[in-house]
Amino acid sequence: MEVLNVSLADRSYPILIGAGLLRDSAQLAKLISARDVLLLSNSVVAPLYAAAVHAALPDRRVIDVVLPDGEAHKTLNTVERILDVLVANRFGRDACVVALGGGVVGDIAGFAAACYQRGVDFVQLPTTLLAQVDSSVGGKTGVNHIGGKNLIGAFHQPRAVIADTDALATLPDRELRAGLAEVIKYGLITDAAFFAWLESNIGRLLARDSAALSYAIHRCCEIKADFVRRDERELADRALLNFGHTFGHAIESASGYRTWLHGEAVAAGMYLAAITSHRAGWLAASDLTRVRDLLLRSGLPVAAREISGVDVMNGMRMDKKVQAGQVRLVLLKRIGQAVLSSDYPDSALQATLKEGFEAGH
Ligand code: NAD
Ligand code: GLY
Repeated sequence: MEVLNVSLADRSYPILIGAGLLRDSAQLAKLISARDVLLLSNSVVAPLYAAAVHAALPDRRVIDVVLPDGEAHKTLNTVERILDVLVANRFGRDACVVALGGGVVGDIAGFAAACYQRGVDFVQLPTTLLAQVDSSVGGKTGVNHIGGKNLIGAFHQPRAVIADTDALATLPDRELRAGLAEVIKYGLITDAAFFAWLESNIGRLLARDSAALSYAIHRCCEIKADFVRRDERELADRALLNFGHTFGHAIESASGYRTWLHGEAVAAGMYLAAITSHRAGWLAASDLTRVRDLLLRSGLPVAAREISGVDVMNGMRMDKKVQAGQVRLVLLKRIGQAVLSSDYPDSALQATLKEGFEAGH
């Protein structure tokens, strides 16, 4: 087991990464210390792993809430349903919400915990690669709104993140690949050596080699913990973690959160941001090719031609990264160095929209 720390004064917390952590009852019972626990999961993950959490907490009051699966349920209605259960069971401010699942369950659980009695504890037990490398760390919680992705939310840090790499064994291949998109993101924005390691080891990751997966998860969490420590509320460079997400959120939103997985939309979004970076005169053509090759070798998309470029542009205007009507994009100076900028020629963005998406309505 490896332990990292997210250093945020009195809100600091550990990230535990390792094989078999969900079966380590003593560790779970220590990190989930509350007497009253709401265990949030979904209809896919609960049958696989909820029993392990119950086994670790035999002396506590553990109430299960099992959501239907899918991003389409990441809504305020679902949060209301969870709050109703907390109220109905008279949970107090010393209760703990435990998120067992991927990023959807984690984002909802964290937001419900942030809202209930102005904030109760929550613990993340991420079970997807995406959640283990990204969404469980950093305290961004929230739900989607018809007007856009993650528009309703709060910063609320977990008390602990416990990432059992064994849980990835049951993850469908498509979900594993979607998680790899966020893994590749870290190399692109800040760590050229890690990107080169991914180029050499992508086959091992796709084959679920446990040493390769553990190394990648550990490196991603190190990078993310560092961004969060420096800029918890995304007032500065935490925004770089949104590389590919401005296009990606617009793709997810335009497709009604049903056909595209979040990681797939981010993959296409990253390549489109890379093209824009190249057209702006920053990213070298050879680096653009490396980005495209690694995404394609990971089985990820690099365009969204069934989606209208006009819808995407409208979606991007709703994105939280827009300031005074100007779309700010995270762009690449080179592999391993990202910048947040609105200082790119509009023609570069327009050409990208034409290349990556359907031309009209
Ligand atoms: P997800 O939560 O929908 O999980 C993907 C699928 O895998 C689901 O069908 C789920 O039921 C299933 N699943 C989960 N664990 C499994 C396991 N171990 N075995 C078998 N099946 C399993 O999707 P995700 O990719 O984990 O997360 C995407 C969400 O995360 C999006 O809503 C995105 O906005 C959010 N996100 C949040 C942050 C953040 O900082 N808060 C960062 C990135 C993404
Ligand atoms: N996924 C972006 C962030 O946590 O800031």
